[in-house]
Amino acid sequence: MSENKRASFGGKLSVILVSAGSAIGLGAIWRFPYIAGKHGGAAFLVVFLLSVLAVGIPAMLAEFAVGRKTRKNAVGAFRSLSKYWSWLGYSGVICAMLISGYYYIIAGWSLEYLVNSADGSMFASSLTFKEQFEAFQGSYRPLFYCIAFILLTHFIVSRGVEKGIEKASRIMMPALFVILVLMAVRVAFMPNAVEGYRFFLSCDFAEAFKPETIMMAMGQAFFSLSVGMGCMVTYASYFKNNNNLLSTSFNVSILTILVSLLAGLVIFPAVFSAGLQPTEGPAIVFVTLPEIFSGMPLAAVWSAIFFVLVVLASLTSTISFHEVITAYLSEEFKLSRKVSAAITSALSILLCTMTFFSLFGVDFFTLFDYLSANIIMPLGALLTCILVIWFMKKNFMKEQLTNNGSVNKYIAPVVVFMLKYVTPLLIFYIFIKNFI
Ligand code: PHE
Repeated sequence: MSENKRASFGGKLSVILVSAGSAIGLGAIWRFPYIAGKHGGAAFLVVFLLSVLAVGIPAMLAEFAVGRKTRKNAVGAFRSLSKYWSWLGYSGVICAMLISGYYYIIAGWSLEYLVNSADGSMFASSLTFKEQFEAFQGSYRPLFYCIAFILLTHFIVSRGVEKGIEKASRIMMPALFVILVLMAVRVAFMPNAVEGYRFFLSCDFAEAFKPETIMMAMGQAFFSLSVGMGCMVTYASYFKNNNNLLSTSFNVSILTILVSLLAGLVIFPAVFSAGLQPTEGPAIVFVTLPEIFSGMPLAAVWSAIFFVLVVLASLTSTISFHEVITAYLSEEFKLSRKVSAAITSALSILLCTMTFFSLFGVDFFTLFDYLSANIIMPLGALLTCILVIWFMKKNFMKEQLTNNGSVNKYIAPVVVFMLKYVTPLLIFYIFIKNFI
């Protein structure tokens, strides 16, 4: 595609909604509440907030700058900055594939739960919710729903950047906020909800400032903000030149934190109100919540509303890592978007099937998750920071952050300082610690 024919997102709001769509997903709604529950409640939120500020936002800005400056897919973008750095783009594409290999599976679970809530079968079954979840896991249905989710994503991405991704995000993100607020209000009226607030908002600072917790918080910041794997590079390649990168990254981060917080405010009061413990971990959404819904009037309706929320949030994220691969294939191999999207979807189906069958006795689910969130994303973010500061011309970041001197004149040097010293050192420290 030639430079001037390249697609771009519409106005400021579109850019924020699309990027926040990538960021807000299972990370905020499913992963955050149970990690926060285990690691100090509100104190974890404080550490998470600090991580977003110290590493998440600067790393996102570095990616935005790379993407918007080059206007290319992840591989093309890094290559056009320096031919020795294109591997950083490849690592992003590979990471997107690894994430595809397990993310669609969990997204598929939520699709199944949405269907089973809507048709009432979930609440009519004689099995307990735990048994239902196990029976579901033991069957082929997860694979079926996972493929359905990939096809849903495929449908949006193959329609293109503007008519597909942008349009879908503009509809789905506001819907997601409305549903989340509605759920939070509904839950507040449940008996004993106060216990949940007390638990979630009680600060255990001793727990939260343990090195292990800080590590978890940073990992959560990378995963949740979709940084370190070329996703924000790809999206920023569709930003307009006058887009204010700093305010976009702030808005995206604030929305992500807000949704994480709201998700906690839905889940914990509900859990306590039902007299359950928040120790279910990952199963909290698929076992504990249905249990709670079943005790409410209009159980199926509330349950369906909740799983619509999870499906929407996941979908705006799956389209973003699908796009990383699709844009790479289409631009690097000069394929049409339809063909590139089809190849990407076929690859995703293959990877998910592998995960599903745990081929060769390897637990791909855990492996893919570990490799992407704990290794590739932190390393990718670290190296992107190093590239934009130490290997680009001196004013590269400053020009991008200030749109050539017209905005953010005072704050840009602060970000550059962070990118130069604070962010890389912090990531490096955590990365090394993680290994030891
Ligand atoms: N940020 C997404 C979430 O929290 C996951 C994601 C990671 C999406 C990397 C795109 C790229 O669910």
